[in-house]
Amino acid sequence: MAKKSTRIIAVANEKGGVGKTVTVINLGAALSLMGKRVLVVDVDPQANATNGLGMAPGPDQLNTYDMIMKPGEIKAEDVLVESPWKGLHLIPSHVDLSGAEVELVDQPGRENRLKDALAPIAGRYDIILLDTPPSLSLLTVNVFTCAGEVIVPCQTHPYAFGALEELFDTIGAVKDAINPGLAVTGVLATLYDQRTRVSHRILEKLKTDERYRSLLFQTVIRANTKIADSADAGKPVVFFRTTSYGALDYKALAQELLA
Ligand SMILES: Nc1ncnc2c1ncn2[C@@H]1O[C@H](COP(=O)(O)OP(=O)(O)O)[C@@H](O)[C@H]1O
Ligand SMILES: [Mg+2]
Repeated sequence: MAKKSTRIIAVANEKGGVGKTVTVINLGAALSLMGKRVLVVDVDPQANATNGLGMAPGPDQLNTYDMIMKPGEIKAEDVLVESPWKGLHLIPSHVDLSGAEVELVDQPGRENRLKDALAPIAGRYDIILLDTPPSLSLLTVNVFTCAGEVIVPCQTHPYAFGALEELFDTIGAVKDAINPGLAVTGVLATLYDQRTRVSHRILEKLKTDERYRSLLFQTVIRANTKIADSADAGKPVVFFRTTSYGALDYKALAQELLA
């Protein structure tokens, strides 16, 4: 069983392109810089977190799909890889994982697969970050069953609020049915561009909205081209461009999360 001190945090939003993966990679990197033992679990078949951490697993590398679909045969331990950065480990994903959604449907204990698979190794880490696909699927339900906390990146763009409402409904449903301990730790404003009125407007809306204002992280993640560049280079911006806005903002988020 996981030690109580391990925080298992899902980074989720059913909308794509809001900064989930960038947050998983860079928050994980910033936490590891602070001396925390961090495991990133890539639960998105698109494997963006895997690639963003510079991993391009070969055909023989086991991945999240194997771990979820072959319980008793493939253990988390077999799938785990060390990143080039100290204290930062990864369970990589693969496009095969998209098949798990369908294959899991008629399997017993289908919601608990991820939780059960990670249980034997969870206690080795201070923080486990789960990257999620941009859809509500059995994979996302597995993530919310496994996690104790959720961070919700919210792009400071129009339409962001509709996606938030849907996500909070989903989290509420999983909480009621399966995982009563699940709680939203924070809503994270992302891709904030101070030159645009819309960024200001959406951030103001988040700060004043009755449902979200108490959950909003003080740290705001600014839009920063170094983030996209570093993702392209397969390195967290926190290590790649240490004084960029992207690095500073994610280090501030890590501090706030641990405060
Ligand atoms: N703060 C940011 N500044 C600039 N680009 C960003 C920022 N956050 C994310 N991006 C870019 O936006 C795109 C979507 O981000 P990503 O984290 O992959 O979103 P999601 O995982 O929610 O689909 C990526 O190309 C990423 O590099
Ligand atoms: Mg993603």
